[in-house]
Amino acid sequence: MEYIRFEKHDFAAVLTIDRQQALNALNSQVIEELDKAIDGLNFDEIRVLIVTGAGEKAFAAGADIGEMASMTREEARAFGRRGNEVFRKLETLPVPVIAAVNGYALGGGCELALACDIRIASENAVFAQPEVSLGITAGFGGTQRLPRLIGPGKAKELLYTASRIKAGEALSLGLVNAVYPREELLSQCLKLAEKIAANAPIAVRATKKAINEGIGKEMNLAIEVEAVQFAGCFETRDQLNAMTAFIEKRKAGPFMNK
Ligand code: CAA
Repeated sequence: MEYIRFEKHDFAAVLTIDRQQALNALNSQVIEELDKAIDGLNFDEIRVLIVTGAGEKAFAAGADIGEMASMTREEARAFGRRGNEVFRKLETLPVPVIAAVNGYALGGGCELALACDIRIASENAVFAQPEVSLGITAGFGGTQRLPRLIGPGKAKELLYTASRIKAGEALSLGLVNAVYPREELLSQCLKLAEKIAANAPIAVRATKKAINEGIGKEMNLAIEVEAVQFAGCFETRDQLNAMTAFIEKRKAGPFMNK
């Protein structure tokens, strides 16, 4: 692959978008390579995925404006659909995904972070949905995920004004979970990944599924979604071992994903 790098760290994997000459802007090739890289992940080995951008300036500076500039409506529809498909695949991966936002996360870059489960930013991160300043709407899910995450009032302000916000404001809005100095970002994300990976993988995956599938549903249906995932964890080796360990006053784990 030309624009995606992959690195494995114990139970976590790091996918890096590396198109630094364009601040990791998401052109069709990057989107296709991201899709292929996601398809190639082995979830028997990976318990957490981290997504980041290469270089010191950008997570991703958005969809590629050069590529979009001359698109017809038909081409734009296909481009938007494809981006949405790949981001949705990322959002619904069986394992948690952490966005390590290491700089500009603009337009499609912010939307990529929004498709992840958890966002951790470096102090130099900058977020915006600047699409209306380019004569378009957000196209990779921003009008839908941003209001769901931070509430419609603030999301509308960001989406209507195209304003850029810094990491500290993103933190206060709940757009990111934590902010660290740039040089600590990846190690802090790996630490978080390690903490997640230390728990029973079947239970972590079931928790993700319960949240993602239940969140848009009416509460009576939503708790049913949880009930299915809750029951599914029982009779697994990890559940039996962990509960036995508790009763015998031993530490649970290591978990086996069985
Ligand atoms: N698309 C294509 N190329 C981009 C790009 C993008 N989104 N963002 C940056 N680049 C390119 C620049 O054209 C430049 O290339 P050249 O060196 O060949 O000229 C290179 O990256 C470096 O960028 P700058 O010289 O502009 O760097 P800077 O430090 O002065 O500014 C920036 C950085 C503020 C991020 C600025 O590049 C910028 O505003 N980029 C565009 C951000 C944007 O509007 N993103 C939203 C796109 S629309 C979208 O994403 C739609 C959607 O929802 C799907």
